[in-house]
Amino acid sequence: MEAQEYNYIRRELLNLVGVDLSAYRSQQVQRRLATFLLRSGHPNWPSFFRTVRDDPASIRKLKDYLTINVSAFFRDPEKYEHFKDTILPELLHDCATLNVWSAGCSYGQEPYSLAITLSEINGSSHPHHILATDFDQHALEHARSGGPYSAEEVANVPAVLLKRYFTSLPNGYQVKEDLQRQITFRQHNLLEDPIDDDLDLIVCRNVVIYFTAEIKSQLYRRFHDALRPGGVLFVGGTEIISEAADIALTPAGISFYPRRAD
Ligand SMILES: C[S@@+](CC[C@H](N)C(=O)[O-])C[C@H]1O[C@@H](n2cnc3c(N)ncnc32)[C@H](O)[C@@H]1O
Repeated sequence: MEAQEYNYIRRELLNLVGVDLSAYRSQQVQRRLATFLLRSGHPNWPSFFRTVRDDPASIRKLKDYLTINVSAFFRDPEKYEHFKDTILPELLHDCATLNVWSAGCSYGQEPYSLAITLSEINGSSHPHHILATDFDQHALEHARSGGPYSAEEVANVPAVLLKRYFTSLPNGYQVKEDLQRQITFRQHNLLEDPIDDDLDLIVCRNVVIYFTAEIKSQLYRRFHDALRPGGVLFVGGTEIISEAADIALTPAGISFYPRRAD
């Protein structure tokens, strides 16, 4: 794609939906843009952007396609096992009530998986604070109302937990209200908005993989600063923080990075 054409698309997207593509890996974005245009049936980008005036849903489709909302309950189940058996007991040893942030929570599968894991460990005796954020308002609304989720999305949820925390509907599964109430959902742009501090656990999985190396690195530093010493960053199954040592994050098994005690 010509630089001029890419700049034009970036400007349009920034104006129309507030997404700044310059923070995202350009090769990957350009590949997805080309596929999107092909499937849309438009001969070129000016033709696509002209339709936005009459069909605002088309720009939302493009944004969804670029930011990729794919998620699942207990994504990478072995990581959640390690979290439950090793990481969580240590966190709870330091502090009975945890401050948890699911950053880039998509349709809610991730924060609900965390809430289920926490509830299974110590019930409601210590209500934890779980904040779940995403910049996608549409995904957040779905998350806030507890679904429904497809059979595919809940495939990793053990049958006993599915029965305990979900209501079965003709079109899928709905999270029960008790669990919904344990989570605060809020819109938040990781590239712009301030981050809370003194957090025990930050879960940011399969989100920063779309960002440039520089933005990724800045975010990891901000995550470090937002964790309390001993607090843990939980990243995606294929994500490795190469500069972890420089920013005082110590790998603890694949996918987990505790902040070094000061
Ligand atoms: C692939 S999903 C990951 C969902 C979940 N964390 C998981 O691992 O299953 C990526 C999510 O990141 C969100 N996202 C992308 N850029 C973002 C940004 N700048 N600020 C906040 N969320 C963002 C997208 O809207 C999407 O919901």
